[in-house]
Amino acid sequence: MNQRVNPLRKADQVRRMRISVLGTGYVGLVTGLCFSELGHEVLCIEKIPERVDMLRKGSCPIHEPGVKKLLTKHLKKGTFEVTDTTDDLPETEITFICVGTPSRKDGSMDLSSLRGAANDVGKALRRKRGYHVVTVKSTVVPGTTETVVLPSLERSSKKKVGRELGLAVNPEFLKEGSAVEDFMRPDRIVIGAVDEKSKAVVRSVYEQFDCPIVEVTLPTAEMIKMASNAFLAAKISFMNEIGNICKTMGIDVREVARGMGYDRRIGSQFLRAGAGFGGSCFPKDVSGLATEARARGLRPLMLESTLEVNRLQPLRMIELLENHMKIRGKKIAVLGLAFKPDTDDTREARSRIVIAELLKKGARVRCHDPQAMENFRREFPKLDYRSTPEECVRGSDAVLIVTEWPDYAAPGLYGSKLVIDGRGVVRTENYEGICW
Ligand code: UGA
Repeated sequence: MNQRVNPLRKADQVRRMRISVLGTGYVGLVTGLCFSELGHEVLCIEKIPERVDMLRKGSCPIHEPGVKKLLTKHLKKGTFEVTDTTDDLPETEITFICVGTPSRKDGSMDLSSLRGAANDVGKALRRKRGYHVVTVKSTVVPGTTETVVLPSLERSSKKKVGRELGLAVNPEFLKEGSAVEDFMRPDRIVIGAVDEKSKAVVRSVYEQFDCPIVEVTLPTAEMIKMASNAFLAAKISFMNEIGNICKTMGIDVREVARGMGYDRRIGSQFLRAGAGFGGSCFPKDVSGLATEARARGLRPLMLESTLEVNRLQPLRMIELLENHMKIRGKKIAVLGLAFKPDTDDTREARSRIVIAELLKKGARVRCHDPQAMENFRREFPKLDYRSTPEECVRGSDAVLIVTEWPDYAAPGLYGSKLVIDGRGVVRTENYEGICW
């Protein structure tokens, strides 16, 4: 892999650290394995016994390129271990908390796992002799580490942050589908910390990387993460709005994006207009930040519009379909259930909104996804799932493409059927692009 490694600091010259990672969800697992790859010894702590068993056997609970290979390699080398207790946590010098912070109904973040984690880590650290740094990797609203994690750690460890304990925030910027690559080639490392000593320990974990290191306070680091996600989400919603305008003018927004992207102030990434953003991060983080802003008496207009454009965008596909046919009673094929290709993750996927609307309008929906059908079926057991794209398309009255899997790129798959393309995957005879 083409890593962003400082040639002056080769792996064998790097100080091998003992690191513990709490949580083996998507972020915890990728982070833990990549730390092992950087030359450290990693202990992952996971509460769910089945997940511990699975990982110990080398089987990978997530669909993410490169993870299985790293898991096999580092289990074998003994540089990656998984356990269900915090017993050995004090043997490590730094702990990364990587637990989920999902959205609550009111849009704010549910911090119960984070509180639990801080408490567990603190309890384990009561037994520790010597200095230990606790680092929050979970995405949180600015201020959370200082007001929630710090007091809980001090209470449960009976130690003082700034003396026996160090505390830091070190957000991740990993994308699902390219998380290992993103980890190994960071644009920057952000370290927020209570003091210089904590900062130095976190910095030494990343010693091998040759990229800018941004050292700030705890809440600033938290805000850098949230603002980065909110900005990227806003970029997408902005392009979707421009794309909807383009469509009415006979302009292809993809060409507009290409022309804009060469401007280095704009950049070419995250300008892909389409059915909108999903996943476990953008929707949750933007609404978390908006909720916090409202609680502080502000009106976060940009954040609110970003979410509103994104809620309406998948419905554009239905409006375009309705220009061609009355939906009631029609057999509609929906291709793509995952929130993006190369993942089986369906959280906040735009397919949910598209399918719900089609069903509401009386369509007979059948669907397909190369990886995500099992996950989707758990929540929507009654849908008509088809095992191949061909089978899904055959006999349908129209096709809606919601995720850009390469499997959907062959024009021959569709014949002369109406295709509403939400992602720019294909070009067929009877075709409507969402923003082109
Ligand atoms: C996002 C960020 O990109 C990561 O930097 C961040 O670390 C992560 O959230 C997180 O907070 O953990 P992720 O949600 O995995 O990563 O996936 P993205 O590739 O960012 O895609 C998010 C959604 O935006 C997808 O539904 C995708 O289809 C959509 N998207 C992305 C667009 O519609 N247009 C684009 O140009 C780019």
